[in-house]
Amino acid sequence: MNNLSVNHLLGIKNLNKEDINLIFKTADNFKKIINQPIKKVPSLRDITIANLFFENSTRTKLSFEIAEKRLSADILNFSSSSSSVNKGESLIDTVNNILAMKVDMIVMRHPNPGAALFLSKNVNAKIINAGDGSHEHPTQALLDAYSIKEKLNDLRNKNVLILGDIMHSRVALSNIYCLQKLGANVKVCGPSSLVPKYLNLLNIEHIPDLELALNWCDVVNVLRIQLERQDVQYIPSLREYAMTYGVNKNILSKIKKNKIIMHPGPINRGVELSSDVADSDHSIVLDQVENGVAIRMAILYLLGRKIKK
Ligand code: CP
Repeated sequence: MNNLSVNHLLGIKNLNKEDINLIFKTADNFKKIINQPIKKVPSLRDITIANLFFENSTRTKLSFEIAEKRLSADILNFSSSSSSVNKGESLIDTVNNILAMKVDMIVMRHPNPGAALFLSKNVNAKIINAGDGSHEHPTQALLDAYSIKEKLNDLRNKNVLILGDIMHSRVALSNIYCLQKLGANVKVCGPSSLVPKYLNLLNIEHIPDLELALNWCDVVNVLRIQLERQDVQYIPSLREYAMTYGVNKNILSKIKKNKIIMHPGPINRGVELSSDVADSDHSIVLDQVENGVAIRMAILYLLGRKIKK
């Protein structure tokens, strides 16, 4: 298969296993290119991409931007805080005005779940979801799964634990879809108050005890407590959370086998992850960031090929 089955990247739920493998194969080629002295290819010359960020971002925004530059695309960067959204302009009006400048593709992060899907139904451009509220973050899940595959060769039958604030995390849901499609076993760990009920429907087991959960897994993907999305307090305090669910040298010393440690960022050091673990040889946090560029280049390239000029 040489083409994606989808015309937009809205979520991992919409992708099939062949799509994911095609993205990985394409990313392999781009990873080689970005590690050469000349990192730029002309693949998206004459394609214009607007990066629309209605929520804060460091990694995703810069990673898309550099991926687009490496592919020779023309780029517009939009930040809602300095835009006419503050004067009451709607999302569709904003995007249609940007598209009138002959833009072909939109990369969008938005606080509302479903915002990328809504846009794909209402405007004429390829849409890439760079995170929609607590719903999906498909490029993060793809780069996470790619990074695990790079370390373990194959995802099939590997045990991956997602730890922390599952309820408010778009990374968790996208990771679950992606890892299950690739044949991994996925379980979650964290306070019951931060585990959504719908996980039963996805056949995901919740292990409340961190030591038991860590003994089960090959890989632990540690998530941040998203206080900014919590309308009520779901945990007594960050200090108590760190004592019960923080990954640190002390808890890892009780675990039989070494684990691959992942985190999508930003890390709250000393809360969900201690600095000595985040910076240890078992942590692949910066490999995730490096792979994110290759994965985003692959997606931009595969969707860009579908744009008829
Ligand atoms: N992982 C991630 O989405 O990080 P940013 O919020 O910095 O983009």
